[in-house]
Amino acid sequence: MKTHREKTIQEDTPSSGLSEPCLTTTHGILYQADCLDLLAAIRSESIDTVFADPPFNLQKEYKNGFQDQWQNVDYLEWSFRWIDDCCRVLVPGGALFIYVLPRWAYHFAAHLDGPMEFRHWIALSMKGTFPRGQKLYPAHYALLYFTKGKPRVFNRVRVPVPACRHCGGDLKDYGGHRKYLNPEGLNLTDFWEDTSPNRHRNSKARPGVNELKPMIPSRAIEISSGPEDVILDPFGGGGSTFQEAQRLGRYWIGSEIGHCDAIEQRFRTFSPTTMGRKPPRKVLSVFSTQS
Ligand SMILES: C[S@@+](CC[C@H](N)C(=O)[O-])C[C@H]1O[C@@H](n2cnc3c(N)ncnc32)[C@H](O)[C@@H]1O
Repeated sequence: MKTHREKTIQEDTPSSGLSEPCLTTTHGILYQADCLDLLAAIRSESIDTVFADPPFNLQKEYKNGFQDQWQNVDYLEWSFRWIDDCCRVLVPGGALFIYVLPRWAYHFAAHLDGPMEFRHWIALSMKGTFPRGQKLYPAHYALLYFTKGKPRVFNRVRVPVPACRHCGGDLKDYGGHRKYLNPEGLNLTDFWEDTSPNRHRNSKARPGVNELKPMIPSRAIEISSGPEDVILDPFGGGGSTFQEAQRLGRYWIGSEIGHCDAIEQRFRTFSPTTMGRKPPRKVLSVFSTQS
């Protein structure tokens, strides 16, 4: 038997081919669904930023029931389908970030070149890996950043001046220009050494679920959007994008094909009072069919 509040939420959520959302908050809505089904339900030119951290086709089994095992050609064909649909739903000037291995990033970047405008190949330093076979030591992940034409929003993000973790002193001498540095920090570059993107079991808030450090989607959101803009993440995982969108006052929409317990648990810890709310009008307005 559903409570009145649950009924109201159900009546107020999109009905087009999607089942009921598994989580709604004051700012967002999450579906346990294939991202292609979610994307199909979203109107063209309605999303401000997409942050996507897809499976990497590493032949592994996720702890949520999803299996990441494709022939390479099928993986690329599938990737281009969701990428194309992400481009379709972006507003003019909207931003697309894709976090992926360089092995796939150059295919994705080549596919995007033309319909979208290249902004950056951000390299995120990867620690704790090892070379396989006759390969160099893999030391970075790629975070592709494209916009749909000229960027609609570009916010400069500043980062703390790097300091020695033992003595607290500066790591660089800035050629005698230290006193001229902006007190709010350095301009973020396209080389991120401070995000530790490796998904080490011990550093994850929810062991067993693939998740990024929140700083990674957070920066993408901050760079490319303003308050009340709508952020889409098709591959929810442990929900780091949704947490950061909520924290930064953006609206958000997401899908996760596996179970979404980790995302719900994240919100129960992070922001329980925002949960179980009627989805915001701005979020509902991106769906092409509304009840
Ligand atoms: C790398 S993880 C994302 C982690 C997430 N960025 C985080 O920080 O918590 C990729 C996720 O995509 C999900 N997934 C795979 N195929 C999907 C699909 N077709 N639609 C929606 N989610 C999918 C997997 O179950 C997995 O949880």
